[in-house]
Amino acid sequence: MSEKTLVVLISGRGSNLEALLKAGLPARFATVISNEPAARGLAVAAAHGVATAIVDHRKHPDRPAFDSALAAEIDRHQPDLVVLAGFMRILTDAFVKRYQNRLVNIHPSLLPAFPGLETHRRALEAGVRIHGCTVHFVVTAVDSGPIIVQAAVPVLPGDTEEQLAQRVLAQEHRIYPEAIRWICDGRVALGLDGRVSLKQAWAANGSLASPPVEAREAQNSSTWKQH
Ligand code: GRF
Repeated sequence: MSEKTLVVLISGRGSNLEALLKAGLPARFATVISNEPAARGLAVAAAHGVATAIVDHRKHPDRPAFDSALAAEIDRHQPDLVVLAGFMRILTDAFVKRYQNRLVNIHPSLLPAFPGLETHRRALEAGVRIHGCTVHFVVTAVDSGPIIVQAAVPVLPGDTEEQLAQRVLAQEHRIYPEAIRWICDGRVALGLDGRVSLKQAWAANGSLASPPVEAREAQNSSTWKQH
């Protein structure tokens, strides 16, 4: 299979970009494009010898104009895949359709729970015991679309938003490179039913409980009282 060409879009820190660059993917990073001129991720790209470009949304009168400029920059590289890695702009339907089935995103929640912003704060407020992250193909509805891979983490008692974010981020750095590798290897198929099928080993008995079952049993047998 020929090497795939990737274009990565960022807006900020670039830690997912860094994880992708360090993963030894069977892919060529053609360019990293940021809408924020001060994005730290631009330095991350440069440190890995990857070309960068800035398409500043403030310099365009509206969303369609910005998306057209962005598409023009992307299309110079004829990418197989456009990878959103902390890209914080809502994209127009026309843009999403232009890159249909080759536009992927990582979102810091177990979609379809908590689309949108401030996912960790909202997960804590909702009192969920399990939180996580999702890699998915992008469709016109924000933070939805065929799911490629998810990773779950426990929400621990007393977690701050920052602690939970760090625990999820560690999983983002694990699953995003894996998902891109699977796509590059031709192991990801998008069905007509809008769902992803994977050529991948699956374990039938895998599960995650939070708190762990053992902990629940320990609680039941202790002097713990319900208030
Ligand atoms: C990540 O949590 C990603 O899931 C979300 O924005 C954050 C970007 O972080 N979409 P970074 O720029 O990759 O460090």
